[in-house]
Amino acid sequence: MKEQMTIVRHEPLAKQIYELTLSGSLVQTMNEPGRFVHVKVAEYAPLLRRPLSLCDINKEAGECTIIYRAEGAGTTLLAKKCPGETIDVLGPLGNGFPVEAAKAGQRALLVGGGIGVPPLYELAKQLASNGVSVTMVLGFQTKEVVFYEQKFLTYGETYVATVDGSYGTKGFVTDVINERALSFDVLYACGPKPMLKALEQQFPQKEVYLSLEERMGCGVGACFACVCHVPNSETAYKKVCSDGPVFKAGEVVL
Ligand code: FES
Repeated sequence: MKEQMTIVRHEPLAKQIYELTLSGSLVQTMNEPGRFVHVKVAEYAPLLRRPLSLCDINKEAGECTIIYRAEGAGTTLLAKKCPGETIDVLGPLGNGFPVEAAKAGQRALLVGGGIGVPPLYELAKQLASNGVSVTMVLGFQTKEVVFYEQKFLTYGETYVATVDGSYGTKGFVTDVINERALSFDVLYACGPKPMLKALEQQFPQKEVYLSLEERMGCGVGACFACVCHVPNSETAYKKVCSDGPVFKAGEVVL
């Protein structure tokens, strides 16, 4: 489904990181955390849409929130848009995190890296409301790009790691998990491939769901821009946009 959604709020959160809140009837079709919308920033160049994951879904207010990093031509242009303006949104697309995989009374560990952190927010909200105990580990490059730590604290213990050590634990999300010996029943993660791979390798016996960040074209399974391989096969593949972006660990080659 496609809609011209209205920008309600649009604010910088951290260096080059923006929080964009949109309103429209499309929000009523948004349920699963981890799905994404494909946003057309301008009528002409840049032509491609940008896949942006849903961070918060507020059906009562008819609003959804997206957090993105302004880095390429499309998102830099998006950062200039003001409240009251509309943008062309296609979605929600893809398959998100299986919230029901973690049962009431169980523990879920939510691990995010950089711009992979936003979809974990709606996930934390839904898991917590189902009675699941949630712990977050959020990894960033440096203090300047840390966001949403306080918001996540509403739902559970939240730890931050920065690669340069300027905030929280120095190092990677896996350093926090090891140092604190964090245990869990289900792990959900979103972030760069090396991070997802490290988690997959560290917890081969556990129930782990990984959301991939992949370059996309069409966003709906038609262009093959986002394919990734399936283990033990030369020819089989999955499309991140329509089969994912969330996969069970081991389902695709990272
Ligand atoms: Fe076109 Fe996935 S982005 S097939």
